[in-house]
Amino acid sequence: MAFKTIIVEIEEHIALIKLNRPDALNALNSELLSELGEALKDARTNDKVRCIVLTGSEKAFAAGADITEMQDLSFVDVFGDDLFSDFPKEFERVRKPIIAAVSGYALGGGCELAMMCDFIICSDTAKFGQPEINLGVMAGLGGSQRLTRFVGKSKSMDMHLTGRFMDAEEAERSGLVSRVVPAKKLVSEAMAAAAKIAEKSQLASMAVKESVNRSYEGSLSDGLLFERRLFHSLFATEDQSEGMSAFAEKREPQFRDK
Ligand code: HXC
Repeated sequence: MAFKTIIVEIEEHIALIKLNRPDALNALNSELLSELGEALKDARTNDKVRCIVLTGSEKAFAAGADITEMQDLSFVDVFGDDLFSDFPKEFERVRKPIIAAVSGYALGGGCELAMMCDFIICSDTAKFGQPEINLGVMAGLGGSQRLTRFVGKSKSMDMHLTGRFMDAEEAERSGLVSRVVPAKKLVSEAMAAAAKIAEKSQLASMAVKESVNRSYEGSLSDGLLFERRLFHSLFATEDQSEGMSAFAEKREPQFRDK
């Protein structure tokens, strides 16, 4: 499908989704969010796709929700329409791993979008921030919840209350991102990570995603039990048998998603 604000390429088993509103530093307007939702649905339902990479430009992953679109809205408008409630549902429905490849600005809704992905690889030029306080508002797409879980209360409060940006080095040190790579290599590194994931059993990768995400909900003991049961259930798959046999036989496994 042809989109106006994003570019989607399917390479091998990977859907590469690129945010593409260069004149507005990929600000998330309603059209972009709607198209991104469509692209996620396409990737989710395309059996060929086993992993998704979401990226922006070298200058900006996304500089936040589109301020021009929000500036004239009232409380009645945003509360009445439950603004930004639909889009996260599209993310939640995707059981395939999603990697955010972030270069440049990931601010406000842009930072929140990156955190909705399963993990973040960023370039050495990345800048993360929740500067909504400078606009007289606050995070609305998960920032106060996810950033706090990722980097802890003190740093999250600092970011949300002062609106300051976090550079790549601090983001890696704080656990917000999994790796920092040179800007020129960002997409290729993310695609290589996605290719690695695509080789694995999809049943196992879906179980991993569910279980790690579960660690952010409820109690530790519930999470540990949930994880153990999923681990047990993977012993019902042929891929478990194949993976362990291949290890014992010192050969590469041939997973068949069964
Ligand atoms: C609309 C935006 C935008 C945004 C940048 N632009 N961010 N338009 N919404 N969030 C536009 C600018 O208006 C400008 O358009 C063009 O992109 C280039 O931006 P500049 O400011 O000229 O670039 P620069 O000087 O390099 O500064 C980059 C920047 C700055 C530091 C990222 O643009 C900035 O502070 N942007 C706003 C960041 C922000 O507050 N984000 C949070 C948004 S609220 P023109 O036409 O002038 O060239 C939010 C709420 C989330 O995200 C709630 C749930 C989703």
